[in-house]
Amino acid sequence: MIFRQLFDRESSTYSYLLGDETSREALLIDPVLEHTEQNLALLRELGLTLKLALDTHTHADHITGLGELREHTGCTTMMGSQAVATCLSATFADGDQVGVGGINLEVIYTPGHTDDSYSFYLPRSEHGGMLFSGDTLLIRGTGRTDFQNGSAEQQYNSLFNRLLQLPDDTAVYPGHDYKGWTVSDIAEEKQHNPRLQVADQQAYISLMAALKLPNPKLMDIAVPANQSCGAI
Ligand SMILES: [Fe+2]
Repeated sequence: MIFRQLFDRESSTYSYLLGDETSREALLIDPVLEHTEQNLALLRELGLTLKLALDTHTHADHITGLGELREHTGCTTMMGSQAVATCLSATFADGDQVGVGGINLEVIYTPGHTDDSYSFYLPRSEHGGMLFSGDTLLIRGTGRTDFQNGSAEQQYNSLFNRLLQLPDDTAVYPGHDYKGWTVSDIAEEKQHNPRLQVADQQAYISLMAALKLPNPKLMDIAVPANQSCGAI
């Protein structure tokens, strides 16, 4: 498989390119609007055809590249069935499989950061699997739960009953990082992620309630734009 981790410095967002070596078909997870040209150039350079672009959730800190990418390539654009965006080609739900060529991602509904938050798991026989955890599980952190229909209660379930149940050697690729981390794994996060060292769900809810974070600077622009697939 061809794999690239891409970074937007403005919003500290990670996007991921996954390409199938045989069919030369590719998918992008969480592409950022401002990087559309760069992403299209990379696809050309790698000899890949973009077939699918996915967002893990409605982002509040950057504008999605889904709409622009579809205009340029005719790719399918998808988000979870809870997403408000009406301009998607299709939606996915928990337990679905999405992908291109020989790449099949298992769709895991992980609400909590937002009510339309999903993670994608790629099982691999020869290595540990890969988890694209959006803003549900970050490296040494978890996504905030204080707006966009967020819920610390639901996020606890998504983390402890879904994502942390994946094999320990699953690589974790988050939706953001603010400290320079690029990849972790489930075992490492179970042991060292401070947000996961809680006794129970109530303790997690209290921890998240105490954070009192400022709103992201692009929120008032990004949320409505993303509900129309990136049209500003
Ligand atoms: Fe987010």
